[in-house]
Amino acid sequence: VENSSTATTPVPHPPRRLPLLGDVLGVSLHTPVQDSMRLERQLGPIFERKALGHRFVFVSGADMVAELSDESRFAKNVAPGIAELRGIGGDGLFTAYNEEPNWARAHNLLRPAFTQAAMRSYHDIMVAVAGELTEHWDARIGGAPVDVSSDMTKLTLETIGRAGFSYSFDSFRRERPDPFVEAMVRALTHAQRRTFRNVPLASKLLYRKSDRQNALDTAYLAQVVDEVIRQRRDAIDSGPEDLLEIMLRAAREDDPNRLDEVNIRNQVVTFLVAGHETTSGALSFALYYLARNPEVLARARAEVDAVWGDEAPAFEQVAKLRYVRRVLDETLRLWPTAPAYAREAREDTVLAGRYPMRAGEWVLVLIPSLHRDPAWGPDPERFDPERFAPERVRGRAPHIYKPFGTGERACIGRQFAIHEAVLVLGTILRRYNFSADPDYQLRIQERLTLMPVDFRLSLRRHHHG
Ligand code: HEM
Repeated sequence: VENSSTATTPVPHPPRRLPLLGDVLGVSLHTPVQDSMRLERQLGPIFERKALGHRFVFVSGADMVAELSDESRFAKNVAPGIAELRGIGGDGLFTAYNEEPNWARAHNLLRPAFTQAAMRSYHDIMVAVAGELTEHWDARIGGAPVDVSSDMTKLTLETIGRAGFSYSFDSFRRERPDPFVEAMVRALTHAQRRTFRNVPLASKLLYRKSDRQNALDTAYLAQVVDEVIRQRRDAIDSGPEDLLEIMLRAAREDDPNRLDEVNIRNQVVTFLVAGHETTSGALSFALYYLARNPEVLARARAEVDAVWGDEAPAFEQVAKLRYVRRVLDETLRLWPTAPAYAREAREDTVLAGRYPMRAGEWVLVLIPSLHRDPAWGPDPERFDPERFAPERVRGRAPHIYKPFGTGERACIGRQFAIHEAVLVLGTILRRYNFSADPDYQLRIQERLTLMPVDFRLSLRRHHHG
């Protein structure tokens, strides 16, 4: 579906327009989000970019995003970047079109497994995987610095694999990244690039090789997941109570929300991908900001030492790390690791009283720019967890913080990500003194998600108390 209607008030766009390639020239295909953030600073809270066959309208103004959050007027749109992922996620929760019946079924079926209370059942697994990280890191104390994003990815993939599907990737025993991760990262990168090169002839000729690789990657991801499911089917009577069990049981028992076999595979791929990549980025950025802000670090560590003591943290003790939670919230303000989501008009409507939108027409919410809106007060680039102190949150406009999206298609895994991330940050703070190379400049890789690259920490033992 193309965005074609013209607005009464023209939507600003970058000055240099070339007839065929649109605004994509002069802009890197590798960093569309960071480029769009730069454009936002020049063009304001709504602007458009044209890139090879697509028109993208970006919205980041707090008032307009508040309107877009009105579920009676707007709904999720599966925009081109996400639509490309249907090759791996199909009609799984993340990539399903609103009207696809499997979305509501899977949502009804799995929602109870993602309440705050349900996190209790994943807690011990999360503690165990955090323990594997510290074992891995203990061996590097005083040695060469650790690559943060790569280790956080091991941790989060391992956690969702075991908590969701009782499947271990043996992440910390591997030297190289898991082939599942490599295939997934290539598939995400492919989806991002594919979005910007929708000229049929050119893409056939120029991208034959990466399309072929993508077909292999897609098949490999499906194969891993089929193996996860097969192992479980073999162990049907002793199956642990996890996401896969919920889906397989519903199928066995003819539950009204039962999912067919293909859809169950789509859900498993979806959870393995959506359930680890963004959390890994969030943890990596949080460690970056902790390493860069000694006062924040000292306060966070003092909290962990005071609240947790020496024991493995019990479930209830995780949510007590209020300040660590603020560090996480502020991290996701500056770098929301799923940096955009799309909203479409349910009926013909006018955004901000000025920009007409036809039914089905969509815009992208550019979250990192929304999170730097003037409504946040002065100096939005400054990392300041106190923005999330309860009294300041109470006084804040309701729709200016959207790291987990909005409405009924918002992130189902939000509580999971928060519990996991706070637990892991607490574990690291309690166990290590860590520091980054003072010359390190934050570099962010975009592959639909955001991820710091080449960020390393040197580790020393922290003696609690
Ligand atoms: C949806 C962000 C962690 C599973 C979303 C959306 C965002 C988001 C922005 C909405 C996308 C849209 O509107 O198109 C994040 C961030 C995370 C995180 C920033 C970590 C910091 C997780 C985890 C899981 C998960 C841990 C699973 C365990 C999903 C699923 C959806 C979703 C299944 C689709 C929900 C639906 O449409 O019904 N996430 N997510 N996410 N997320 Fe997350």
